[in-house]
Amino acid sequence: MVPDFSVKGKVFVVTGGSGVLCSEMCRELNALGAKVAVLNRSAEKGQALADELNASGGDALAVSCDVTDEDAVRRARAVILEKYGRVDVLINGAGGNQPAATASDERSFFDLTPEALRGVMDLNFMGTLLPSQIFGETMAAQKKGSIINLASMAGIRPLTRVAGYGAAKAAVVNLTQWMATWFARNASAEIRVNAIAPGFFLTEQNRFLMTDRETGEPTPRGRHVLMQTPMERYGKPEELVGAVVYLASDASTFVTGACIPIDGGFAAFGI
Ligand SMILES: NC(=O)c1ccc[n+]([C@@H]2O[C@H](COP(=O)([O-])OP(=O)(O)OC[C@H]3O[C@@H](n4cnc5c(N)ncnc54)[C@H](O)[C@@H]3O)[C@@H](O)[C@H]2O)c1
Repeated sequence: MVPDFSVKGKVFVVTGGSGVLCSEMCRELNALGAKVAVLNRSAEKGQALADELNASGGDALAVSCDVTDEDAVRRARAVILEKYGRVDVLINGAGGNQPAATASDERSFFDLTPEALRGVMDLNFMGTLLPSQIFGETMAAQKKGSIINLASMAGIRPLTRVAGYGAAKAAVVNLTQWMATWFARNASAEIRVNAIAPGFFLTEQNRFLMTDRETGEPTPRGRHVLMQTPMERYGKPEELVGAVVYLASDASTFVTGACIPIDGGFAAFGI
């Protein structure tokens, strides 16, 4: 049997869709003929991306939505169903860290604030769970769908500094496996839940953890990361798309509960 990697005509909902990594996914999925609903907190950024995709001959919709707000996600679903009538793939891309949840030379573990730690857990964990419930309900009615969560290397191996973020992403990995089992047993074996775990991609979130603000040279942390990455480089956002297409399409019909590292070998490397 020739594997079917097609995503043409499939309806994707991408939370955090206009962020660095997910906007690249949206562009590539659009180029492959997918319909893309960009869910973003800031309406303008989402609309700018949807306009770009539509101008290139695609079919995209921007919906402003805070993924930690259940009512907002329900409203977003109504808008998407009104336009497209179904949801084939949910990419839970909204996520991120906060400085006050990150230990540093200036901020010890004892000084991490409960507000920031709760905020990071809320965005990454609840911001994955709520859209999975709400769009997963639609997939349950369809008896088919694919949910793809954005985990992180920080959720696979605890990384120094990012205490709250790592714990929140570990929770995302655990939830991915939990939901994979739940959907297969309780909704349909054709609803699959998987994750990708990006390694180090140089983006706005981590640029100045990895490179010096003034010189652009790698910081000590950046040097460590490169030394621990067998490929000795950072990832490029477009390098996530192959795994997303695989997990979204019928090429992976027996794959659920997986978390695919996309990390240049970081997770595989010991010493
Ligand atoms: N950049 C990396 O190296 C890296 C590595 C591993 C995992 N990740 C994960 O990949 C995902 C995308 O990361 P990125 O680097 O592109 O980040 P980014 O900050 O560029 O994008 C995140 C997007 O989420 C949106 N967002 C934030 N809070 C939101 C909310 N409450 N509701 C809706 N949208 C919200 C932001 O507006 C932004 O568009 C995140 O989950 C991140 O944790 C990133």
